[in-house]
Amino acid sequence: MANENSGLHTAKRNKKDEFYTQLVDIERELWHYRSHFKGKVVYCNCDDPYVSAFFEYFTKNFEFLGLKKLITTCYKSQRLDLFSQNDSEVAIKLEYTGGAPNSLPTPDDIGVTSLQGDGDFRSPECIDILKQADIVVSNPPFSLFSEYVAQLAGFDKKFIIVGHQNAITYKEVFPLIKENRMWLGFGFKRNMAHFNTPHYEDTAADADHREGMIRVSGVVWYTNLDHNKRHEEMILVQRYHGNEAAYPHYDNYDAIEVSKTQDIPLDYTGAMGVPITFLTKYNPEQFEIIGATESEGAGFSSGLWKPESRIAQAVINGKRVYKRLFICNRNHVISET
Ligand SMILES: C[S@@+](CC[C@H](N)C(=O)[O-])C[C@H]1O[C@@H](n2cnc3c(N)ncnc32)[C@H](O)[C@@H]1O
Repeated sequence: MANENSGLHTAKRNKKDEFYTQLVDIERELWHYRSHFKGKVVYCNCDDPYVSAFFEYFTKNFEFLGLKKLITTCYKSQRLDLFSQNDSEVAIKLEYTGGAPNSLPTPDDIGVTSLQGDGDFRSPECIDILKQADIVVSNPPFSLFSEYVAQLAGFDKKFIIVGHQNAITYKEVFPLIKENRMWLGFGFKRNMAHFNTPHYEDTAADADHREGMIRVSGVVWYTNLDHNKRHEEMILVQRYHGNEAAYPHYDNYDAIEVSKTQDIPLDYTGAMGVPITFLTKYNPEQFEIIGATESEGAGFSSGLWKPESRIAQAVINGKRVYKRLFICNRNHVISET
């Protein structure tokens, strides 16, 4: 019974991860990184080429991007889930080096081979492929996101991947963001995406409802490839001096609360607590990320926390505030007052 239950649990979890990125979203994001791909080996390691639009994007743009090689591998349960019960339980691999007779080759035109193992991105076989790759591009299972990122960082790989914004404060992810080893990409429209899925019923209302798709909000692209948006300076218009009441000091952190990114004051020199969505506007030349509230991970607040308060979440006048990142303005304006 225990085995049956754990099997069911795995199947449920796998199903939860079965949703597929739309080609249009991939095209919209990857356009900004086109200069990074020349002569590179791209690896999509959570991608069944029969269903993945990442496969389609890279085969279609292989020559345009000047790629050296595209490799995709897929987890075996993905194929079982999507295809008939008769489909063999295999994980597959595809390698493409360009030159297909038509500009939109199918996986069968190129040729797929079976993997020996189950295609898990953590398997020795997939890690060997990862070592050969220059850039990893995928939408990995959200349920394994921390492990996925830790592996990429461990092998010092370049990447462009889809994930949820809540991962910003995961203990495996936040230190990379703080050290500028990982940042957000351009992003999905309104920070939300529609994914193709055979497994979910879309509950989104009216204009946002799309048949055969699920709408997920808070979805972002994570990358460590440079792009223009990251160097755009945020125009700050608010001032702290003369307007102190709008920026209360936390009871338990040595920082002021800035509840909306657009209200970051241009004349404050100290630490400021901002929502995690600040990262969509983060320019490392303009701001330094110092830490995050202790509720996001022990030791994350870089000494701003007053441990005697015992409450790890940020508190203002006894009232708790949602997740916060702590930042400093590198170019603050000296106030005339
Ligand atoms: C969110 S879906 C995205 C699929 C595809 N990358 C795309 O964007 O269309 C994540 C995929 O990862 C696969 N997956 C789940 N666990 C995996 C693992 N341990 N190793 C590799 N792939 C896995 C799932 O089967 C699922 O198809």
